[in-house]
Amino acid sequence: MQYSMKYIFGFAAAVCFVCSILISTANVGLRERQEANKLLDKQKSVLQAAWLIEPGERVSREGIEQIFENVRARVLDLTTNTLLDDDAAAAFDPERAPEAAAPQNKAGIRFMPEQVEIYEVIEDGQVAMLVLPIVGQGLWSTMHGFIALDADTRTIRGLTYYDQAETPGLGGEVDNPRWKRLWQGRLAYDDDWNVAIEIVKGAAGPPEEAPHQVDGLSGATLTSRGVSEMLQFWLGENGYAPFLKSFRESGRA
Ligand SMILES: Cc1cc2nc3c(=O)[nH]c(=O)nc-3n(C[C@H](O)[C@H](O)[C@H](O)COP(=O)(O)O)c2cc1C
Repeated sequence: MQYSMKYIFGFAAAVCFVCSILISTANVGLRERQEANKLLDKQKSVLQAAWLIEPGERVSREGIEQIFENVRARVLDLTTNTLLDDDAAAAFDPERAPEAAAPQNKAGIRFMPEQVEIYEVIEDGQVAMLVLPIVGQGLWSTMHGFIALDADTRTIRGLTYYDQAETPGLGGEVDNPRWKRLWQGRLAYDDDWNVAIEIVKGAAGPPEEAPHQVDGLSGATLTSRGVSEMLQFWLGENGYAPFLKSFRESGRA
């Protein structure tokens, strides 16, 4: 049977129309679930950075939400180094936060947000830990993660990356729980509050012997350097240092 050109084009247009309706309905219908999953993923990374859940531990959605009840998301204005009040924080959309050119740095950061979401882990009504977002260049990729600091703002409780594309087995070992465990108990700052934490080539030894040093990732000096440089930047004067200073002085811990 021969179909006319008009019929073929009409039929193809009808199929396209029906498919586009199906796809947009699915997209709109699933958007809420996608947003919820995104939030859950972020919450999980925050909890992993703080070792409130172990790396690789399978925790249900309810489990994560329950632990997260003791975590308070805050919005830090990096231009004033102050926390926004709850109303302003509720209206905060990280994807629309204004960005400014970053001061010169070795972490490959060209633009930085003026406001960032940070997290306070609450224990017995006090802030026990601060979980701060960090970002910078590895060898192949921009690496996004969190560093968890004790309320003394010096002792590191954990470091985790939730988005990076370094080579598995080399730079990708930033995700290895054994390496992540090495960060616990090291000191981010020296006695004069200069950023002192760094990754060294080879083994650094335990925190008591090498409080400011962490083992390098073997065969991945460049990724390791990226981690050191981004911590140097974000924990420094152009990053969180002024806020951490005012946090210490506020006696909120
Ligand atoms: C295919 C390939 C992938 C690599 N991926 C990484 C990586 O993800 N991170 C990294 O630092 N180095 C990576 N390297 C190695 C770097 O080129 C460089 O040799 C290394 O960082 C030096 O570290 P080392 O002094 O510990 O050997 C890779 C090399 C090759 C050939």
